Amino acid sequence: MKAKGNILQNVLLVGVMALFMLLSRHTTPDVNAQNLNGKYGLNNYNTPEVVEELQYIEKNIKPLLPKPETRILITGSTAGIGQLAAKTLIAKGYKVVVHARNQKRAEDVKRDLPEAEAVVIGDLSDLNQVKRLAEDINALGKFDVIIHNAGTSSGGDTVFKVNSLAPYILTSLVHKPKRLIYVSSDLHKGARLNLENMQSSAPNIGYAETKLHIFLFAKAVARKWRDVKVNTITPGWVSTKMGGSNAPDNLRLGYSTLVWLAEGKDKAAQTTGQYFFQSRIEPNYNKIVDDIASQDALLNAYFKVTDIPFPGN
Ligand SMILES: NC(=O)c1ccc[n+]([C@@H]2O[C@H](COP(=O)([O-])OP(=O)(O)OC[C@H]3O[C@@H](n4cnc5c(N)ncnc54)[C@H](OP(=O)(O)O)[C@@H]3O)[C@@H](O)[C@H]2O)c1
Repeated sequence: MKAKGNILQNVLLVGVMALFMLLSRHTTPDVNAQNLNGKYGLNNYNTPEVVEELQYIEKNIKPLLPKPETRILITGSTAGIGQLAAKTLIAKGYKVVVHARNQKRAEDVKRDLPEAEAVVIGDLSDLNQVKRLAEDINALGKFDVIIHNAGTSSGGDTVFKVNSLAPYILTSLVHKPKRLIYVSSDLHKGARLNLENMQSSAPNIGYAETKLHIFLFAKAVARKWRDVKVNTITPGWVSTKMGGSNAPDNLRLGYSTLVWLAEGKDKAAQTTGQYFFQSRIEPNYNKIVDDIASQDALLNAYFKVTDIPFPGN
């Protein structure tokens, strides 16, 4: 009887230890909330990991001399890797215009990134707002770099509108920059292209497929606009609100790929039509994106859905 009790105790102990080891694999950063003065949306729109990184940038990134002239627009710069890239580029002295979905988030980002040149506003799940946003962006003049970073994993047709249609509309309506950067995901590799579904009245398109769309679209733009450097990145699985605090990949290397491509100083960053992970060309991707017929079919489907032609098609 006693032996049975000991075995049970040992099993319980091992179980508790395994659970403890599992939980302690990830240590939450020690973010000092008192120093934040209400900034950065800790545990609201940003994880502790993102907030810690924003504080790292505040302390460590110094302005470049001479001050760079490059003008950069980043969509979805109120949180996550878009905000981290914006914060880094602003700290280096670049002129950065940020984007928020609504007035409330615009106030948040003005408080978080007060040195941003301007904030443009538009909910990317509302296609009329996206068209208005394109006009507002054009009213600010030309950009050297535009980063299409905003993204969501929410359900319904929101994910399709935000991740796929909005970047198509903005790319088609906004004055051509010198460099374009699109944010995809490695999850695109498992997706299947179903363009008929895209044209149905209630498209049923998941996150991975939208990330295939955006990568395929970037490849089409790179082929059609030879005067623009067009690249796609995957940040990896990183600990933003979308990725969650337990995400395994390196957050700094994730958003720094956006910064590195936007600065475009390295020869390796001056290429076009490539897919990058952690500032290196990533050779493993879904090769359907290189298929010209699929690229043209996607442009055609976008035109049918939005009635906006792709310029230079
Ligand atoms: N985190 C990952 O592991 C991971 C992996 C692969 C790819 N990505 C991609 O990386 C990009 C950035 O994501 P993140 O991880 O930084 O996520 P995040 O922290 O959730 O940030 C997403 C950004 O997009 C904005 N956004 C979402 N829906 C919008 C809408 N309807 N209208 C306007 N803006 C909208 C958000 O605005 P609010 O702050 O107002 O919500 C926020 O600024 C996305 O394209 C995502 O798909 C992320």
